[in-house]
Amino acid sequence: MILSPSLLSCDFSRLADELKALEAAGLKWVHLDVMDGLFVPNITFGPPIITSMRKECSLFFDTHLMIEKPERYIDMFADAGADLICVHAEATNHLERTVASIAERGVQCAVALNPATPLETIKYLLPQLDMVLLMTVNPGFGGQKFIPFCMDKVRELKMMITAAGSKTLIQVDGGVTAENAGELVHAGVDVLVSGSAFFGYPPYDQRLKTFEAACS
Ligand code: DX5
Ligand code: ZN
Repeated sequence: MILSPSLLSCDFSRLADELKALEAAGLKWVHLDVMDGLFVPNITFGPPIITSMRKECSLFFDTHLMIEKPERYIDMFADAGADLICVHAEATNHLERTVASIAERGVQCAVALNPATPLETIKYLLPQLDMVLLMTVNPGFGGQKFIPFCMDKVRELKMMITAAGSKTLIQVDGGVTAENAGELVHAGVDVLVSGSAFFGYPPYDQRLKTFEAACS
């Protein structure tokens, strides 16, 4: 299990310190929520902030683009230092082309699906995806409640990936807590994103241990 803390719930006035604290606590990934105020109602940060963050740590930048027509910005996020770029299937007309353009940059590629978006959408893309992100809330804000039917969706995706003989990772994002982490991992999740249920419970090394214990 990989825990990818969502920076959306960190103290943005101390961004560099937060990144260093995650690294010191033993985290390997950090989840960057990019929002454009159009695909989702909220606005967060973009490539210049990621460029600055890149200088502060060597965490794996798990970059979740909640933006319309993400194909316009793949190069900018790759240049900023994203290690993985995740685009929403609902935000681009030509998903295969967008995914291929991420891989061409030598960056890992992922597709995110909103809770109501069927798994069929990514069925034929699985061989070229490093990860599928199943949204377990409607994207836009931290601190929302996990949508229960998403647990079945994780199980179905796991079966699809196994049947395809693919190595694609499954990530979940939204309402993930130390209480539901174990069930999610047993259902097939590889990467847990957690915002409020992580940053709200320092120290971070202890919180990581709590998540790990919940998933063992
Ligand atoms: C929601 C974001 C999430 C969010 C998760 O749109 O994509 O990454 O920060 O926050 P929690 O864990 O608080 O639901
Ligand atoms: Zn996210």
